[in-house]
Amino acid sequence: MARELTEIGVVGLGTMGAGIVEVLSRAGLSVTAVEITDEALQRGRGHVETSTGRAVARGRLDPAERDAVLDRIRFTTRMADLATAALVVEAVPERRELKAAVLTALDETCPPDTILATNTSSLSVTELAVGTGRPGRVIGMHFFNPAPVMKLVEVVRTVVTEPSVVADVAALADRLGKVGVTIGDKAGFIANALLFGYLNHAVSMVETRYAGREDVDAAMRLGCGLPMGPLALLDLIGIDTAHEVLETMYRESRDRLHAPSPLIRQMVTAGMLGRKSGRGFYTYAGPHSGEVVPDDRTPAGGAAVSGSRPVRRVGVVGAGPTAAGLAGSAGEAGYEVTVVTDGGGAAALEELAACDLVVAAGPGPLDTEQALVTALGGVLAPGAVLATTSRGPVIELATASGRAADVVGLHVPHPAAPLVEVVSTVATAPEVAATAHAFCAALGRHPVSCTDRAGFIVDALLFPYLNDAVRMLQARYATADDIDAAMTLGCGYPRGPFQVLDDVGLDVALAVQRDLYAESREPGLAPAPLLEHLVTAGHVGRTAGRGFRDHPAR
Ligand code: CAA
Repeated sequence: MARELTEIGVVGLGTMGAGIVEVLSRAGLSVTAVEITDEALQRGRGHVETSTGRAVARGRLDPAERDAVLDRIRFTTRMADLATAALVVEAVPERRELKAAVLTALDETCPPDTILATNTSSLSVTELAVGTGRPGRVIGMHFFNPAPVMKLVEVVRTVVTEPSVVADVAALADRLGKVGVTIGDKAGFIANALLFGYLNHAVSMVETRYAGREDVDAAMRLGCGLPMGPLALLDLIGIDTAHEVLETMYRESRDRLHAPSPLIRQMVTAGMLGRKSGRGFYTYAGPHSGEVVPDDRTPAGGAAVSGSRPVRRVGVVGAGPTAAGLAGSAGEAGYEVTVVTDGGGAAALEELAACDLVVAAGPGPLDTEQALVTALGGVLAPGAVLATTSRGPVIELATASGRAADVVGLHVPHPAAPLVEVVSTVATAPEVAATAHAFCAALGRHPVSCTDRAGFIVDALLFPYLNDAVRMLQARYATADDIDAAMTLGCGYPRGPFQVLDDVGLDVALAVQRDLYAESREPGLAPAPLLEHLVTAGHVGRTAGRGFRDHPAR
């Protein structure tokens, strides 16, 4: 019979535990909040007081309600105070031995029908369950950071979890105003399994100096509309937690893309754990602060545009939305703009001879793009900058132009995105990249710098995540709806991976993924077979009326 769980315990009052305590109490439940030392208990209480205080200050919580929320929480250092709890959530740090020890202690303290839930991000719930004397009443209840804000709870059942326990915990998630997605026990569950490969890759971009931390973060926020960039998000999650999650995922998958980037381990060793320690990829005003302060790695403002060439006359070649968008904003920014919509006509290109900067805004197959830049290379005045919006490789176009030092990539991941990836090849002159930066900034677009690798920043980070989601669907671990829900509700993504794939086009996703795989030879980047099959069958997404979902044909 269904049980209403009204008395709940939480063990561990770090960022997650304190957030979970707040969520439970705000839903009217009575909560026993346990920490190991008085000091840690006071810190945990402080988290709850600050967070509810902020809710009052923002008018989201009545002061009297806040008092009631705090009154419903009993803060204690005695495990024995959990003797009457119907459910206890453990939220201690992500270390297997520690979590196992806490669950064993709870097993000894709590009555036999108390449900023990673990908030592990990636450890095997099955292993943790069988270490207790009640494996049928152990379950995963995975909240997302910040717990009061993120709507997702992954309810993780093992092969031995009693169905009534799953039903009770799913009903509790509902009562908390969360969306519970019930899934099996697999490292990383849905959201972390899709998130952490992406986060790890972002770290390696910074580690190898392919791109700077601000550029990687801006690329994903402005290029994909994500609420935070990957490095800022890692600081929120905690670098130590991220390390543990990646280690666990690597142990299960043996996929090198999950092996924690060496920089992550170095940061853990150095105590740079993210917001909680006041320093991670960024430096914060203090421990637990979200306020970023300048540090010795913050790029000096304006450095990128020094030495740029003067630009007054701008040419744009192309008829698509990217060309129209760039031409429109260049006009508004006060440049003298010449637009050539027919890139094939040599006479038309002559009109661009006096331009200081010309953007070849295809898009087209590489050979068409090559023919265009070859023609432009012969027409433009010495010193003019030749930019291409091509997906690359930019160096092939640069070489074809006969003036490689003047060629730079200006990749616009999405015509509506306020972001431009400024791509330097091995041959691009520094002042040409600087000119492109200054031009983008004058257009009100945010320029980020990278070099000429497949997918630049945005596509290299976005498409493998989409591909992983297809693999997860193909493995029947979760439905497309649940995977989309996990990413939108757990990580604040504006759209889930299958919504993105249907909109971008499965054929486009497949082409990008093939390029990434061909360049890296990384087995984990091989296109998902299901993606290949759907494209072969013509199910390429919204434009075809069918992709991962049916769409009314346009
Ligand atoms: N506690 C309580 N409330 C908080 C909060 C916190 N720590 N941080 C933000 N909020 C609330 C704010 O009060 C605000 O509410 P109102 O709009 O009602 O006033 C709202 O959230 C938005 O906050 P802000 O305006 O301050 O900031 P923002 O718009 O930049 O949003 C964010 C902040 C919600 C964190 C947003 O950036 C976001 O969604 N980021 C993605 C977070 C994410 O991906 N989380 C999952 C990480 S993975 C994980 O947790 C699993 C794991 O196992 C590791």
